[in-house]
Amino acid sequence: MDSTGQPTGVVPGSNLTDLIGQYQRVRAFTEELCRPLQTEDYVIQTMPDVSPTKWHLAHTSWFFEAFLLAEHQPSYASPDPLYNYLFNSYYIQIGERFHRPDRGLLSRPTVDEVYRYRRHVDEAVLTLLDAADEQLLAKAAPVIILGLHHEQQHQELLLTDIKHVLSVNPMHPVYARPAATDTAGVKNDAHVAIPPLQWIAFEGGLKEFGHAGEGFFYDNEGPHHQAFVQPFALASRPVTAGEYMEFIEDDGYQRAELWLSDGAAVVEAEGWSAPLYWKKVDGRWHHFTLRGWESVDTAEPVTHVSLYEADAYARWKGWRLPSEFEWELAADGLPVHGNFVDDNRYHPAENATTARGLQQLYGDVWEWTRSPYAPYPGYVPPPGAVGEYNGKFMSSQMVLRGGSCASSRDHLRPTYRNFFPPHARWQFMGIRLAQDSGDKV
Ligand SMILES: [Fe+2]
Repeated sequence: MDSTGQPTGVVPGSNLTDLIGQYQRVRAFTEELCRPLQTEDYVIQTMPDVSPTKWHLAHTSWFFEAFLLAEHQPSYASPDPLYNYLFNSYYIQIGERFHRPDRGLLSRPTVDEVYRYRRHVDEAVLTLLDAADEQLLAKAAPVIILGLHHEQQHQELLLTDIKHVLSVNPMHPVYARPAATDTAGVKNDAHVAIPPLQWIAFEGGLKEFGHAGEGFFYDNEGPHHQAFVQPFALASRPVTAGEYMEFIEDDGYQRAELWLSDGAAVVEAEGWSAPLYWKKVDGRWHHFTLRGWESVDTAEPVTHVSLYEADAYARWKGWRLPSEFEWELAADGLPVHGNFVDDNRYHPAENATTARGLQQLYGDVWEWTRSPYAPYPGYVPPPGAVGEYNGKFMSSQMVLRGGSCASSRDHLRPTYRNFFPPHARWQFMGIRLAQDSGDKV
């Protein structure tokens, strides 16, 4: 799926030069992420949730075509009228769409043609901006900023999707080798001590949530509102792979008392016995990463777990997952620091710090919350097709917070709400524990 949004806030960088710079930077980074790929890699779809790389490249361009150029550039013509059918994801108000699970059946347009499509759209967007008067710029800038945040979401999906594509290939293709200075990929016999888990206590009370003030935000982050939170404590760091191994070894996947009913059904139907991409070889856990197969580093945050697995793990430990409000309260005032796609690791990082306080809140792994993805009080989706961006997904999904090693640093903020169905685990999803009252700490 793609969890995307729309701008209702004031847009920073509406200055034309800044806007053009942002546009060129974000569009170029999408193509930069494709550099390690071979042409054949671009076309594969390994499951309905996964889209081919080629489709991501085209769809992010179509977004500017559908929401910006069609509206504000009357002379614009798409290279092919069928692109509107092929690359519309889920916008029913825009028209018919190609069947999502069949995206991997499309050998045409070719990868070259899709890159030409990107050039075509880029040229049209930059031409529009060049000629825009103040009035047009005021209308176009929010749509362009939205399109760029949308593209950043697809950059993350592009990486998690290509990871799944490469993982099923017995030749074990490697997306990227760790940089020479990065020792994270060389850890076969390294023993990094897991930093002790600390509990950080927070006072409860009537608090404020959702986006306020300036800056881009998706519609689902508002309206800003008050909600009551009981006193709680949050774990200082995410659950590590080593800690999760203990859950597996304690027959965690087989113990009915630990699982939500829907989760137990998925475990049984899918035969789950470990996180996605994990495999035990000669008594040791290994997993497929964007850097190839590696032995699992016990000190790194566990990832590729569903909400069901996160919830069962928390129950096994005697604790629980945080609500999205608890997470947002804890994140208030903290800088957006962490291991992001900008760091070129493409994998959660070990936490070897002895620092106190909350760690790895941003980056590394999206943290499942126990909060259903629901509208905030007073939420109304914007009118028109763009209103389909977020609002219509507000059922049967759960909120995740904090971003991952595949997110861009400048894409995140404390109020950012990601959302996926509880069985999904092909994103970099992980676990942070919480408990009900700070006075147990
Ligand atoms: Fe999208």
